Amino acid sequence: MPDHTSAHLLDKLVKHNRLKSSEWASLIENEADLYDLARKMAQEIALQNFERKIFYRGIIEFTNFCQNDCLYCGLRKSNHDLKRYRLTKDEIIECGKLGYEFGIKTFVLQGGEDLGFSDDKLIEVILDLKSIFDDVQITLSVGERSFYTYQRFFEAGARRYLLRHETADFTHYAKLHPEAQPFWHRITCLYNLKKIGFQTGCGMMIGSPNQTTSSLVQDLCFIQDFKPEMLGMGPFLPHHSTPFKTQPSGSARQTLYILALVRLMAPKILLPATTALKTLLPNGYAEGILSGCNVIMPNISPDWAKPNYELYNGKLVNDLAQSISKIRAELKTINYQLVSAKGDFQG
Ligand code: 5AD
Repeated sequence: MPDHTSAHLLDKLVKHNRLKSSEWASLIENEADLYDLARKMAQEIALQNFERKIFYRGIIEFTNFCQNDCLYCGLRKSNHDLKRYRLTKDEIIECGKLGYEFGIKTFVLQGGEDLGFSDDKLIEVILDLKSIFDDVQITLSVGERSFYTYQRFFEAGARRYLLRHETADFTHYAKLHPEAQPFWHRITCLYNLKKIGFQTGCGMMIGSPNQTTSSLVQDLCFIQDFKPEMLGMGPFLPHHSTPFKTQPSGSARQTLYILALVRLMAPKILLPATTALKTLLPNGYAEGILSGCNVIMPNISPDWAKPNYELYNGKLVNDLAQSISKIRAELKTINYQLVSAKGDFQG
């Protein structure tokens, strides 16, 4: 049985949606005892808010060029083994059309920080997608940009933005990124996105090299203060062409536990069961949902591009029809279903 004080913290979290650092540390340290209870409570809260319905978003990985050099990521500019590509506007629209046929109502335009794909070009893509499909939402995930650029993206019609904070522990951040990518800049971008009015997503990897309990406590404190509308969180997985190639993967169990804690903290947050989790764990989508997740993000990029968007080793590559039918089958085992809806944050 979970000891009384730690289990009590889960109730306190549900009641107040925030905890003190020492309380978060206690929850993280007592994972062994609280794992089942936390997940059960998280699933219950997700059911109250979203029933047995899972939103799905189509990710379009439109460029794998990147000016950054994050030590964990396969797209880092120092990885010269990667075949780089950039989709044309027409190719991106084709992805949208394919996704739309499968009921997808959110397109996530995701790319490396690619200066060769200009702001103007991306704005044209957003405007075109919005005019072709009148009932879709556009999410951007294109990294750190100026306030002005974010504002232009918003004015073009994008309404959500994913920018993981990666870690809220600035000493840890400096071990995952080169000096040219300071922590303060990432955080400034996140606050700018919120200020402009984007539904904003942050997030971190679980088990990234040098992560400590204190880093995770700082993540959870950051999240409860920042109040993101979305949160992306999966296990760290090594990539063979990065400095972290020999580092161990994050733990699926810890990922599922922290996902549950996030759901208890933020009952309405849009919380995907990530591709990284599914890569580590064969039934990762179902397990994520049993931890309170309510979103799945299938890849709607062209099949030829998928193998080149390799953030980590073993990233799954399926064609869309195949991946959607697999997702449906996996959800059916736990009696959940995909719903075709924009699925905005309902605060
Ligand atoms: N393992 C897991 N997640 C990764 N990401 C990048 N590289 C890896 C990796 N090796 C995540 C980062 C980034 C998002 C696009 O993918 O958190 O923000």
